Amino acid sequence: MAEAPRVEASRIMQRCDALARHSELAGGLTRVFLSPEGRAAGEAVLGWMREAGMQASLDAMGNAVGRYEGERTGLPCLMLGSHLDTVRDAGRYDGMLGVISAIECVDALNKQKTKLPFAIEVVGFGDEEGVRFGTTLLGSRAIAGTLAREVLETRDAGGTSIADAMRAFGLDPNSMEKAKRSRSEVLAYAELHIEQGPVLEAEGLPVGVVTAINGFSRLRVALRGEAGHAGTVPMALRRDALAAAAECIVMVERVAKNVPELVGTVGRIEAKPGAINVIPGEAQFTVDLRAPDDPIRERALADVKNEIGRIARERNIEVKIESLQDFGSSACAPWLMRQLERAVEARGVRVRRLPSGAGHDGMAIKAIADIAMLFVRCKGGVSHNPAESITEEDAAIGAAVLSGFIHEFKPLSA
Ligand code: GLV
Ligand code: MN
Ligand code: MN
Repeated sequence: MAEAPRVEASRIMQRCDALARHSELAGGLTRVFLSPEGRAAGEAVLGWMREAGMQASLDAMGNAVGRYEGERTGLPCLMLGSHLDTVRDAGRYDGMLGVISAIECVDALNKQKTKLPFAIEVVGFGDEEGVRFGTTLLGSRAIAGTLAREVLETRDAGGTSIADAMRAFGLDPNSMEKAKRSRSEVLAYAELHIEQGPVLEAEGLPVGVVTAINGFSRLRVALRGEAGHAGTVPMALRRDALAAAAECIVMVERVAKNVPELVGTVGRIEAKPGAINVIPGEAQFTVDLRAPDDPIRERALADVKNEIGRIARERNIEVKIESLQDFGSSACAPWLMRQLERAVEARGVRVRRLPSGAGHDGMAIKAIADIAMLFVRCKGGVSHNPAESITEEDAAIGAAVLSGFIHEFKPLSA
């Protein structure tokens, strides 16, 4: 077989810039699941997939899926990809770099007219961040067939359910199962993603091979006290829901700081009625807990829930704790890691293995296929921030490694 084709990195960078223009945030990047901006980004990606020789369309959950046939039509595929949704005021590489790099790898194969003994599918997952509905990996869970129908009743902050948002997007929630793929169709899943941490930069390495993705738990907590006059109600008689939430936030931080490798975040809080001279009667906040070790995360989750209950009791506040999602840590498959490592070495780069603190679509895809991930260095380890940045040189090395991996890929059964 010919050498793995060269992948042009300047177009990868240009396309990351082009996708960043599909945003609900003027002057920045915010693109949530099933939004008009999500559709525009999906359409752009489908166009690039077609230019690269793929059959491409949105699936029943709104994922952009492109397929490049192998030596024969209908062969099982090597699935590649990442996500097209973003956090609020996001960077332009988290997710998009993996989708665009994979398309470039296929484009290079197509230009060379190379067909492999397997098909390649590239997926731009519609939702990995879970920003709009609180629950995450909606696109990849639909593909894995692990997205329960009840989840479609989850509502966004404006009260729109996932099912309603799907209808508005032109999808039929009753057909969600059509997005499901089976184990026999997918030989493996590999994702290129920015590291989102400082390890590779500190060690002077452009790429690294992921060993496992840390597990996470997400909660939504609603506190109800009593609204009242900020000037007349004595401190001892108040039932201030926001003050209770503040105590909970500091408690989450304390719990996480006390356990090595556990991280805990309250990333969102709202208070009502929200006036300078009114004691907040209601507060709602989220909790995100992560750890490489599932029992550690589970113990911390129980502690956080107990402590929220105690804080609420002591303040005479009603509390409702809703578990939004729990995902166990996901190991990458050693046989795929070895193949990825060979592709790294073939580009003259020292192999560095590292875990992922961030969540990724592979956590869901693992239900139908073994997974692997390649991290690309990002500046200062910064992500989930508009300052997220990578160099074109590193994008080129990441794409070259992915291209080499694809070219040499051997399924486990081979
Ligand atoms: C996604 O980036 C996550 O880890 O929450
Ligand atoms: Mn992210
Ligand atoms: Mn991501």
